[in-house]
Amino acid sequence: MATYKLFLLPGDGIGPEVMTEVEKVAAFLGEAGVASFEIEKGLVGGCAYDAHGQAISEEHMAMAQAADAVIFGAVGGPKWDSVPYDVRPEAGLLRLRKDLALFANLRPAICYPALADASSLKREIIENLDIMIVRELTGGVYFGEPKQIIDLGNGQKRGIDTQVYDTYEIERIGRVAFELARKRRNKVTSSEKRNVMKSGVLWHEVMSALHKREYPDVEMEHQLADSLGMQLVRWPKQFDVIVTDNLFGDMLSDIAAMLTGSLGMLPSASLGEANPKTGQRKALYEPVHGSAPDIAGQGIANPIAMIGSFAMCLRYSFGLGDAADKIEQAIADVLASGLRTADIKGDAASTVSTTQMGEAVLAQLRKAMA
Ligand code: IPM
Ligand code: MN
Repeated sequence: MATYKLFLLPGDGIGPEVMTEVEKVAAFLGEAGVASFEIEKGLVGGCAYDAHGQAISEEHMAMAQAADAVIFGAVGGPKWDSVPYDVRPEAGLLRLRKDLALFANLRPAICYPALADASSLKREIIENLDIMIVRELTGGVYFGEPKQIIDLGNGQKRGIDTQVYDTYEIERIGRVAFELARKRRNKVTSSEKRNVMKSGVLWHEVMSALHKREYPDVEMEHQLADSLGMQLVRWPKQFDVIVTDNLFGDMLSDIAAMLTGSLGMLPSASLGEANPKTGQRKALYEPVHGSAPDIAGQGIANPIAMIGSFAMCLRYSFGLGDAADKIEQAIADVLASGLRTADIKGDAASTVSTTQMGEAVLAQLRKAMA
């Protein structure tokens, strides 16, 4: 049985609450002989700032670099609203993405039939939805320089962010999208704003050339990002894989999350380039939802996105696709049995706690593996 090194960064708010449920699943996989996990834990976000004045310490960055995979909860909260910009909680997550070179962010939006009524959209629009948003994660306006506020000296200030993409960045995220599409329904929708942005003109040009040169067997289309947002709520099932930049991907994946019923349902994987010798990628797995300070500490957060992120880790980092499928099936079964946390309550008569939901998924998994 292989042993993998996991570095857990529960973070702030509901992060630690949902991470506890992942630890139970990992421990069970060890008992079941699927794989064993060496688990270390660190601090990121507001809790790291409180402990040592940084959003993540050098020591914990080194541990993240050394791990086979990083499992991340959530960061941020009103408590840290006024800390200096460079050490705000989100800076810890952005540094992890940048330093580990996690350029490919996979955000699958799957609507379980049992949850179709929890969405604000009509059942027929979202039932059985299965799309994959591939978001570029280490470039664009998130990291482009200059990034600053300058004093113009006349009582005015100027805020500047820079949207910048190089050919290689567009090509490598494009390849991730095309490769994924080949294993799915073989369609890629590339999205930018080439009607107003030069980076969008280049994005469109590079994606088209890549398609023609390396992936002519995959169906490809281009949609402007605003129009794509509209199409996502109008008829989301037209999409298979959507590939887009860092900022548009951030926004569009929140929209996609609500198609599945709740932000509490969406897992994600952030992957680096495969090592040419080992084939291994640096990787971080995190739920798309944030730290939800409004419900933190109440034990009512939905752990499904966090558990689903761990399933993605098994699939993409450790080649344990079977175990990942079983976890996802256990989640589907538990939802079909009617169990609901508050965020996906819909018409349910009652709701369960984070622990109850986590343990129900685990019990179902235990049954499936017995
Ligand atoms: C996300 C989050 C982050 C982002 C924040 C917390 C920096 O919204 O992962 O979608 O904007 O990328
Ligand atoms: Mn976001």
